Amino acid sequence: MIVAFISLVFLFLVAVGLLARRRPPSTPPGHSCHPSHSPQPQDSSKRLARADNTLQIYDIQALAPRHEVAWYLANLIEKDGAGDWPPRTDHVHWPAALRPYKDIYLELAPLLSAATPSLDDVVNTERREKYRGLMRKLLTERVNVDHVRGILSAVEAGNWDGMTREAYNGFYCCVAVCRHAYRWATIPVVKVAQLETIVEFPRELEVPWTYLQRMFGVTADSGNNTANVLHNFDLQGERVYKINVAMKDLIRESEEIFFRMFLDLEILGFPIYYSMVKALVAFDGGDKPACIRYLNDVSGHLRRLLSVFFDNVHGGRISPLVWLSYIQGFQGWGIGRYINGEYVKYDGLSGNHVLVFQAIDAFLGIERYLTDENMERYIPRNQRELCLAFKRHTLRSRLAPPGQNPEDDRIEEALQRIVRQLRVFRAAHRTRVIPYLEQPAPERLPMTAGKSVLNGSSLREALQVLDNLMVTRLRETQ
Ligand code: HEM
Repeated sequence: MIVAFISLVFLFLVAVGLLARRRPPSTPPGHSCHPSHSPQPQDSSKRLARADNTLQIYDIQALAPRHEVAWYLANLIEKDGAGDWPPRTDHVHWPAALRPYKDIYLELAPLLSAATPSLDDVVNTERREKYRGLMRKLLTERVNVDHVRGILSAVEAGNWDGMTREAYNGFYCCVAVCRHAYRWATIPVVKVAQLETIVEFPRELEVPWTYLQRMFGVTADSGNNTANVLHNFDLQGERVYKINVAMKDLIRESEEIFFRMFLDLEILGFPIYYSMVKALVAFDGGDKPACIRYLNDVSGHLRRLLSVFFDNVHGGRISPLVWLSYIQGFQGWGIGRYINGEYVKYDGLSGNHVLVFQAIDAFLGIERYLTDENMERYIPRNQRELCLAFKRHTLRSRLAPPGQNPEDDRIEEALQRIVRQLRVFRAAHRTRVIPYLEQPAPERLPMTAGKSVLNGSSLREALQVLDNLMVTRLRETQ
């Protein structure tokens, strides 16, 4: 009995090993070139959710040579995701030269937040200078920039012997959060910090950032949802770089719940990407009933995904009393630099970076929310390309006019169901976020992380601008 069981396990492992060796071809069907590096080893033992994706990932890899949308999803998983999605991230097994960054962030974290934000510019300036001075000192003492550059140049040249892709993802997060901590230098965000226009960052935070941003194909000085949030969970699902480590429970718990939501969205997003790819492959293969089944799967998975928003974005889970001052501010940015003589200002993070909404919008043929410029600043290249591929294959422009083909009518109905789900989300998002945004925060000017300091002479006017954006998006969702 035991022997039979061991043999079965052995056969299973051999089969999985054989499957894992299959890789998508190096270019998407119909395309001639793409950036590439050797595949990274997968460790499926640590997180159940990742092990659950194995068969779907194999299926996507098998479809990649035949269908470009499958290819782009396989490419995202293999490269940015280090073999899975959401991306796998290692914050421990780094080359020695990179480790001081993590130590420094964690050592300084207790100094970042103030239990009582001051309204006095002088006090705030002192606090910020102290934090920045300490960070600069530790970076100079402990980081050898030439060694860091050596490691990142090797990776850029395609040599991954020195670190895994998981570790690279972790380091991306670490440098991003160090930069955000240095940018604000005290939490809650205060007016003197908001009024800065240019900040000179220590070399130790500038040099790696250029390599990291090039690797992910984004251009902003600020971080993004992938770097700061998705990569901020280790292989056990623990959040690594927290903001308010020394603050009261209400703040720390709201912070955890808020950021965990974004990881959960991508965990539940994965079966949606998979079902959307399968729906397109089925349609292109002439199997419309299968296409309808996969579209229904998208709806089912989307219902679960949206419940993450509905179950968490309310005062019982994430307190509006602390969100604006203690949780959102860190992820803002609002400073810039001169590029070719022109001042370019960057924004921070927003829910508008979340891949799953961009991918579904593209799949449905809905116009993009972010401009091309903002896509290139904040959305990693392989995520952008996946969305563009979904858009190129959108089903709606390929269906027969209503009433002419019953199967096409059923496909349109299934697509409409997804549209309605998105509309429900967008209508709810519009109202649920208001209590968070309208909290008094006298220490700062009206600002969202995603849109920086808001124009408008009063908070009410500033909120109206945001509301208009959300109403327009709701209108576009059809
Ligand atoms: C307290 C929580 C939240 C607040 C205060 C908030 C606020 C906002 C604001 C003001 C905007 C419009 C400005 C911009 O583009 O940045 C926005 C956009 C957006 N947010 Fe949120 N948000 C919150 C949570 C979330 C969550 C949890 C999600 C994902 C489930 C999300 C998804 C989006 C998306 C996708 C957009 C782009 C517009 C659209 O596609 O409808 N937000 N958010």
